[in-house]
Amino acid sequence: ALKASTTIVVAGASGDLAKKKTFPALFGLYNNGFLPSDIRIIGYARTKMDPEEYHKRVTQYIKAPIPAMKKKLEEFLERCSYVSGQYDKDDGFEELEKELKKCEETYEDKKAPKNRVFYMALPPSVFTVVAANFKKHNYSEGGINRIIVEKPFGKDLESSREMQVDLKKEWKEEEIFRIDHYLGKEMVKNLLVLRFANVMLDASFNKNLISNVQITFKEPFGTEGRGGYFDEFGIIRDVMQNHLLQVLSILTMERPVSFSSEDIRDEKVKVLRYIPEIKFEDVLLGQYTASGDKPGYLDDETVPKGSICPTFASCVLHINSPRWEGVPFILKAGKALNEQKTEIRIQYKDVTQGIFKEITRNELVIRVQPGEAVYLKMNSKAPGLAMRTVPTEMDLTYKRRFSDLKIPEAYEALILDALNGDHSNFVRDDELDIAWKIFTPILHYIDEKKPRPHSYAYGSRGPEELEKFVQDKGGFVRSSA
Ligand code: BG6
Repeated sequence: ALKASTTIVVAGASGDLAKKKTFPALFGLYNNGFLPSDIRIIGYARTKMDPEEYHKRVTQYIKAPIPAMKKKLEEFLERCSYVSGQYDKDDGFEELEKELKKCEETYEDKKAPKNRVFYMALPPSVFTVVAANFKKHNYSEGGINRIIVEKPFGKDLESSREMQVDLKKEWKEEEIFRIDHYLGKEMVKNLLVLRFANVMLDASFNKNLISNVQITFKEPFGTEGRGGYFDEFGIIRDVMQNHLLQVLSILTMERPVSFSSEDIRDEKVKVLRYIPEIKFEDVLLGQYTASGDKPGYLDDETVPKGSICPTFASCVLHINSPRWEGVPFILKAGKALNEQKTEIRIQYKDVTQGIFKEITRNELVIRVQPGEAVYLKMNSKAPGLAMRTVPTEMDLTYKRRFSDLKIPEAYEALILDALNGDHSNFVRDDELDIAWKIFTPILHYIDEKKPRPHSYAYGSRGPEELEKFVQDKGGFVRSSA
């Protein structure tokens, strides 16, 4: 474990990620006693700010709503300092080194190794140079060093590899923690347990019983204000190639030999290697248009005129392993849809009707968010004297089942794992590579051939063509899908 005598450096401390995720998560951990009381956190960014201004900013990021938190927040702020500097010049990093040393002098145990964690909340353009500068100026001799990095990891296999090669010139794989924040979500972490600690689920997870699997990500808002970034990437790179593929790999991998991070990641890589690259006929693309008072994607001023960037995509993947051969995995991801929802829907094969008239097929639904839940759709006899069946559910809705429910934020879970040196919920280099291999050909096809995406109205359920697409690819369509 790496908790005492640790300083965390947040690079890009005035950016969006630091504001929305990193600082709230750091404070959440601190507030709940998961960080040592003498932890020090140094922000590093280009903006010049005096300590007062900086503390005001961090306070805004954190939004401590209840009075009890206020005192903790004051304590937390005393642990936060800031250094401004350029990303590509030595002097800023030299200043940072002075501040690191100053912080380290305050640790109770003077002899303890000086551990440093570098959190990169930075745009990709400056990512490599900052990682190199941290290594050059701020690497702790004798302590443990860790670097937390986050997507975008390039735009395709080649650029991702380049970036990894650059990063690994300076940093060892065991020092690198690549975040995919979906791996920090409570229900995603539950997948291993659901699957491997329940004999009947495990036994049913195969091509003999399962007809198809649908993994869906929906957001009810568009790219408002973020269009500049988004347009370069599109929904496949933004959500599908990483978050949804990660979910898919944990859902479908074989039982790992142990819970160790390498055993888990070995199995994830193995199942991903069974997936052939995606062809264009296995993809449906969409882009949202204005509806009511909601703007269309192209109305966003930060989006280039006439952009064909997909804000919605559905892709069918196949896993050519003995367990899964022939089962379509239908991924769907979209912005500006009718609701927020991320869920996995495992549709079993039809039951023999035989003596029954109208029975529905079994379906296991794992809702990642919002409102974590697992439910199994099954048939039951309708209570009463008549012999009638009724579709019903075995329902594990977290809110009802776990009375003292407090679901940690994904970033809290992941930062804590990184502090503890546990790589299980981080992406390994070969895993990243294989994820890009699956999607790079289709991404290049889209970039070159520029197929027009289907339109769908802001707030709708996606392109009208979706239902037919899903059906053609072997998925069952339900009214609430
Ligand atoms: C990010 C994407 O990785 O994930 C965003 O860049 C997306 O576009 C977000 O909104 C979704 O995360 P969550 O945790 O809100 O489901």
